[in-house]
Amino acid sequence: MLICKKNFNENPIIIGIESSCDDTGISVAKGRIILSNIVLSQKIHKKYGGVVPELAARHHEKNLPLAFKKAIKKAKINMNYIHAISFTLGPGLIGSLLVGTAFARSLSLGLGVPLLKINHIQAHLLVHFIKNSNMNNLYPKFPFLGLVISGGHTQIIEVNDYFQMKILGSSLDESVGNTFDKIAKMLGFYYPGGPMIELFAKGGDKKKFTFVKPLVKGLNFSFSGLISNISQYIKKELKKDSLFIKRNIHDLCASIQKIIAEILLEKVHKATLSTKIFRVVLSGGVSSNNEIRRTFTSFSKKYCCWRLFLPKKEYTTDNGAMIAIAGVIKYEKRLFDSDLDIKNYLPFSKFKKF
Ligand code: KG4
Ligand code: ZN
Repeated sequence: MLICKKNFNENPIIIGIESSCDDTGISVAKGRIILSNIVLSQKIHKKYGGVVPELAARHHEKNLPLAFKKAIKKAKINMNYIHAISFTLGPGLIGSLLVGTAFARSLSLGLGVPLLKINHIQAHLLVHFIKNSNMNNLYPKFPFLGLVISGGHTQIIEVNDYFQMKILGSSLDESVGNTFDKIAKMLGFYYPGGPMIELFAKGGDKKKFTFVKPLVKGLNFSFSGLISNISQYIKKELKKDSLFIKRNIHDLCASIQKIIAEILLEKVHKATLSTKIFRVVLSGGVSSNNEIRRTFTSFSKKYCCWRLFLPKKEYTTDNGAMIAIAGVIKYEKRLFDSDLDIKNYLPFSKFKKF
């Protein structure tokens, strides 16, 4: 069945295009409901131990039309009934962003519909406003504290409205996602290593190994010290026993997850006390980690003033639905972008603030 545009002015059909890193995501939203969410992950980076920007951009070029076709087909909509195109403006890899931007602009020009520029980090948080058609919908009320934990970012953000956000703390060096990936590489896992650490942590003793927590004042994070502490420890143990990693892989992974979860919780707890905002919202790829989810959930149960919101797992790692929902909210507020000159989208400023 095709959905007719005329009947759905209140529930616009918006395309979300995500291409900031190595995932090509295209989603179709109808109002705040997601009709399709196609993510084509690029496996090519696995063997390099991290994302190769040039390859990422080339693969987006190939994947975007494929993902678009799939998303339209799954959503069962006619292209003529699309109301607007939302796309990730940044932050992210410049080549990848350029490919996504060019694709979004072409669609917008071809279909004669407006463009909506989306900030990737804001979009991670806005997934909490996606409507689940057959579930009770509990949305976080403003203001709330957002913890964005991904490969690119580790930030505590005060969210006062959909697009009114203030960064309270960030990582001074490595993001938490990179931390997982770098440690995973030491343990012999392919990129992205975060999910592998979680997989191998199953059945492990999380109290077996203790590592040094970073001492950073305020609400900022630092993970480089933890990475070198773990690296030095592993090297030292490998000298004594060359099979140290193999023999202890489950306990190591469980202990690493535990310390990262604790570091995150301690900072967010501090942020809730200093802002007196006790609604806490997690998002980003790392928020799919179950140890982190458990740590935050059990804390929120103990401290009844806390109200915790965890994203649906399918919306944690990079995806088009997060860009589509941010687009829908921008559309509701009529925040269109009429500027179609690509040079004005560069150089994708660093997004130190929103
Ligand atoms: O949000 P995302 O897809 O991309 C960025 O915006 O950066 O996050 C990707 C990051 C990678 O570093 C990956 O290792 C990590 O999220 N990640 C995880 C898990 N799933 C993804 N880290 C720990 N546990 C997981 N289950
Ligand atoms: Zn992301």
